[in-house]
Amino acid sequence: MKKNITLEKNIHFPVLLTEVENLCSNIQKGDFLDCTFGGGGYSLHLLKKTSSRIDAVDRDKNIKYLADEIKKKFPKRFRFFIQKFSQIGETFKDKKFDAIIFDLGLSSYQLKDLSRGFSFKSKDKLSMDMGLSDLNLIEVINSIDEKNLKLILKVFGEEKEASIIAKNIIKRRAIDNILNTRDLVEIIKKSKKKNFKNKIDVCTKTFQALRMFINQEVSELLIGLVEATKLLKVGGKILVISFHSIEDKIVKYFFKNFSFDKPNSSRYLPKNNQKNNILFSKFNKIIKPSPSEIKKNPPSRSAKLRYAIRCKNNFEFPNEFIESFKKYTNLENIYAKK
Ligand SMILES: C[S@@+](CC[C@H](N)C(=O)[O-])C[C@H]1O[C@@H](n2cnc3c(N)ncnc32)[C@H](O)[C@@H]1O
Repeated sequence: MKKNITLEKNIHFPVLLTEVENLCSNIQKGDFLDCTFGGGGYSLHLLKKTSSRIDAVDRDKNIKYLADEIKKKFPKRFRFFIQKFSQIGETFKDKKFDAIIFDLGLSSYQLKDLSRGFSFKSKDKLSMDMGLSDLNLIEVINSIDEKNLKLILKVFGEEKEASIIAKNIIKRRAIDNILNTRDLVEIIKKSKKKNFKNKIDVCTKTFQALRMFINQEVSELLIGLVEATKLLKVGGKILVISFHSIEDKIVKYFFKNFSFDKPNSSRYLPKNNQKNNILFSKFNKIIKPSPSEIKKNPPSRSAKLRYAIRCKNNFEFPNEFIESFKKYTNLENIYAKK
């Protein structure tokens, strides 16, 4: 990470910042948890615009120096933790928040640092580790069996040509280990049919799939949403910005199925009143970036913001939620020790 990038020369545009600020405008002296510190965009803005205290979390140790800069400016109101979503329940077990924010995916710091291997332009060692990951992409790509590799590309990347890409990865590694991003890009390009109508890069889906797998992103999000909801005060808000369909499907499911205002499956049944209904959410309401934000920051075009309000004190861990996404978590766990 280039340390000449400072908070003042920030290269990450915080997505939907005005919308997040408006949704939290009632919290002027409260407690925020920023679960995705990234370039510090939200944390810094909230510190400047309110008198609130901000706890921020990120799994990426490389951006700690940005957090240190913020800490110097706001020593009493800001704390930073290098952690994953799955750890927030334990870290903040004695605290409750007025608002908890997730801005999922990668920061521009991660994407533009070619040594991290998130970009197709990288020629460096394969990695895609966001930080604190248990898996190593070089080991995975050179050892995984074809069936599971194909499944990862299909399920996490929704890649239609998963089969041929997986086959070509296996063929290529039989000659020599695949060690860098340039080799992976070459294999994907050779495998994909030419489709001139395609608006996205041919590597996008494979890269998304491998990144999600290496960082166990689905498990992290499922646990993160549950733990965050537990940490909310009654009346507190949870806000989630997602960037692709799997993330959004999970957020929508969580908000819809654990909300009081979810529609009844039949009008003859009594009104929903189950113990796990702990949120109030306008679950069909999605907030998207304005055309002017998209013009200024094109990657924001796929962002979707959903939010919900905690409306009950008791909370039981909704096993059913985790169960509903077993298709993804079972796949993420194929390397787990038996
Ligand atoms: C899109 S960026 C956030 C940008 C930030 N909102 C800003 O305005 O600067 C997402 C960040 O979330 C972090 N992240 C993703 N998954 C995480 C997880 N499971 N636990 C902790 N941090 C995570 C990434 O490392 C990345 O820095």
